[in-house]
Amino acid sequence: MTGARAVNDKTRHGDKESVRVLITAGRIQKRIRTLAKEIRRDFPGERLHLVSVLKGGVFFLTDLARNVPGEVSFDFIAVASYGQNTHSSGQVRLTRDLDSSIEGRTVIVVEDILDTGMTLQYLLRLFQQRKPKHLRVAVLLDKPERRIAAVHADYVGFTIPNEFVVGYGLDYSERYRNLPYVGVLTLTGGAKSGKRE
Ligand code: IMP
Ligand code: MG
Repeated sequence: MTGARAVNDKTRHGDKESVRVLITAGRIQKRIRTLAKEIRRDFPGERLHLVSVLKGGVFFLTDLARNVPGEVSFDFIAVASYGQNTHSSGQVRLTRDLDSSIEGRTVIVVEDILDTGMTLQYLLRLFQQRKPKHLRVAVLLDKPERRIAAVHADYVGFTIPNEFVVGYGLDYSERYRNLPYVGVLTLTGGAKSGKRE
């Protein structure tokens, strides 16, 4: 028994949505404990400034922060990429900036998923200009098949296939973020599917 339940739901538009568990809550937590230790080992004795991307990265940030020993601070940024559905256009714009300067700090960008890489490419360029001492990237999920931008994550929770996933912060039109596990979303009855080209 995994303890994780799949979700079946019918949308307002009549499409049937179902979520199949891909990574259980237990596996996520175990992996995060390992990543947190790795990050601390790479920067012993330094204050780590975790910068998360709203809203999807917040679950990962809070669990990561609780497992990193020593001094940690955090901040949040928000970006919008155009499109509300399972397809993204690759256009990124800043909708909420950080509260404080990152100059001279050891910054770990904490993201839910590295997909095309457009979001992280945009953020890394922005942050690099602000002269942090170190700039690293931690992502819970990596979908390498979809990569367009040459972006590399230093810490990766899980490498996953090209499927549209929800849960643990990840949404489909703002829903499903609260699932404690990561699942593959499938839409049937309409033209959409969880698999993306
Ligand atoms: P990228 O810019 O294409 O790398 O995508 C990054 C953002 O797209 C993530 O922070 C998510 O908000 C969203 N995204 C990409 N893939 C998925 C997915 O499978 N499910 C939900 N959101 C996703
Ligand atoms: Mg997101």
